[in-house]
This record gives sequence, structure tokens and C-alpha cells, in this order.
Amino acid sequence: MKYQFPVTRTQNPKTKPTDENTLGFCNHFTDHMFIMDYDEGQGWHDGRVVPYAPIPIDPASCVLHYAQMMFEGMKAYRRPDGRIQLFRPGMNAKRMARTAERMVIPELPEDILLSAVEALIKEDADWMPKAEGTSMYIRPFIFGNEISFSALPAQHYTFIVILAPCGSYYGTSSDKLSASRIYVQDTYIRAAKGGTGFAKVGGNYGGAMRASKDAKKYNCKDVLWLDAAEHKYVEEIGTCNAFFYINDEVITAPLDSGTILPGITRDSVIQLLKRWGIKVTERKLSIDEVIAAQKNGTLNEIFASGTAAVISPIGCLNIKGEDYQIADGEAGPLANRIYHDLYGIQTGKVEDYMGWTYPLDVFVKE
Ligand SMILES: Cc1ncc(COP(=O)(O)O)c(C=O)c1O
Repeated sequence: MKYQFPVTRTQNPKTKPTDENTLGFCNHFTDHMFIMDYDEGQGWHDGRVVPYAPIPIDPASCVLHYAQMMFEGMKAYRRPDGRIQLFRPGMNAKRMARTAERMVIPELPEDILLSAVEALIKEDADWMPKAEGTSMYIRPFIFGNEISFSALPAQHYTFIVILAPCGSYYGTSSDKLSASRIYVQDTYIRAAKGGTGFAKVGGNYGGAMRASKDAKKYNCKDVLWLDAAEHKYVEEIGTCNAFFYINDEVITAPLDSGTILPGITRDSVIQLLKRWGIKVTERKLSIDEVIAAQKNGTLNEIFASGTAAVISPIGCLNIKGEDYQIADGEAGPLANRIYHDLYGIQTGKVEDYMGWTYPLDVFVKE
């Protein structure tokens, strides 16, 4: 079911960024936002599109203290014919439901999420960037909003969606992927079995910042996370899923530990590889196996995948201060091929032979 929401238009439209090639990742936000409330006994109610503005929050609101919150990350793309489309948004809704269950946050029905996103994009369609490699980042989030210091689930929640025209997360341009340096993190961990690694919650990211910051000392963009129990098996790269192409096999961490975020891009990469007849395996892979493959020349490529980064090749791993170059240190052919089809399908430049796109009833003029 498609919901209709009331709209209050801004009286003070912002100045839009003029150079789309320097958008960066979410440095600008559009003119409107979607907001909806939840109250125990009433459910989700009063969805509305309103001018983008700061939200008043009581200093004693539980989210500021106990972080009962969750978010999603998805994108809208402009097709060559001017129509705006989403990419597998049903998977974001399903992941939201799993996160909500873990965080004891009331589930937001999929059709509310999709109607909210469409209503907001309709209002701010003229913010859709069109330069190569750009898109509109969509950030839905929900937080417990109740004045209480009891460490208990809230009874009131706020759901908000905001939009940000953006370039790529790691600053890659679309015609040439550039490779990043990554630090192998063997002290701090991102997620442990039984924790919230599989869910999209702010605490996972706040807890990861120490490691990401330290990686900069080694001139690295981010970290490769190892498992919490043994610091032995590769898990994720920064806020992306990780793929290792060794011999004729592409390997990524399995989801069964509950420590890996089930990326929508990850799933799409796996499906594309299978479709192309390339062997892809979800299995535990030790950092020792990666090092051995690098030394004997069978490590062809490493790349990260995510909505923000799309496909981000890794040119070098730094392990305890020592550099291990991956092949020639540049973006490899497999990463480039995946990027070409994935971003092509997302933007409507490659025919959607996987049935993944979700066109909206929103068109933008040239
Ligand atoms: C920790 C983490 N892993 C992986 C991903 C990739 O997920 P997706 O492909 O759905 O963006 C993200 C981004 O959302 C993330 O935050």
C-alpha cells in the first residue's frame, strides 16, 4: 500500500551545491525531511514531510544516554530518461526489521518506509545530482525519544528520513576506481558473537572510530576488522563488506556469526559473480591465508562493497606497520567489472538483467 503524507514546503530553500564533482559524502542536505512518531498503544502515526530543520530534543531523552537507535543507508539514482529509481529497497526494509527486533524498537512497515522515501524524493527531486558517480544518499533512522534514565526500551520513537546528494564515500571517480590502503586491525574489534554487528545501530560505528582514526597513522583509509574471539579471521573493511579473490575463488565472510552486516551490495556482488560463473564462497578466511596468498602470488584482488562506497578496491594491506601490496596495487579487473555492471544497473545505464531496480513515480528534468 502506498501512503500519502501531508507536505509543508520550506519558505527558505537552501543554495544547492554548484560543483557536483566535489560533493563528497553527505556534506549537503536537501530542503525537506520526513518525520513520523510512534507511541505505545497508538503505533506509527502522523507521517509528514516538513522543511529540513534541527529537531528539539530533551537533554534527558534516552537515546542521548543509552543509544537505543537504528538507521539505514540507501540511495536514489537518476536514470538517463530522467526517472529516479531505488536499488533493492525491500532489502533495506527487511534489514531494518531485523535491526529493530535486536534493538527492541517497534518495527516500521516496509510500505511506510517506501512511501516516506518516495514522498521526500518527490519534494526534493531538483536536488538529484547528475554528474557521473553521484547519487542521492537516503538516511532513514529511528530513535527512542523519551525522557527517562531507565535503561529500558522507550515507549515513544521518532522516525526521520533525510537526503544528501553525494559523490562516492572514498572519493573514487566513476571512470577510474582508485585503490585504497587498509590497516589490519588486530587490537580493537567491531563486533562479537551475540552482539549487534549484524544490525545497523549507531553504537557499532561509535565504537569503531578509535580504530579508524588510528589507521590514519599508517596512512590508511580505514581498517580490516578481524574476528573478536581469535583476531584471526577477516570480517569487514571499515563500513563495508570485504571480498578476497584468491586463485579462482572469491571469498567473503559468512553471515552466521552475527558479526557481519548483511550488506545489500554484498548480496548483489555474490549474485552477479554466480551469474557470471565465477566461484564465490562464503567462508571463514584467516589473515594468515591472505598473507600466504599475497606471498605466493595467488591473491588477485581485495575489494570492499557498500552502498556508500559501491566497490572500493584495496591496493595495499598494512599489517603491524608492514605493507603488503595486492597484485600491482591498482584497482583489479574483477572490481572494475562488478562496479561497471552494479553502478550501471543502479543508474539505469546498464539494462537491469537482475531485476533489482525500483523505479519511483518521480522524474527530473535535464
Ligand atoms: C558495517 C557495514 N558493513 C557493510 C556495509 C555495506 O552494506 P550495504 O551494502 O547494504 O550498504 C555497511 C553499510 O551500510 C556497513 O555499515
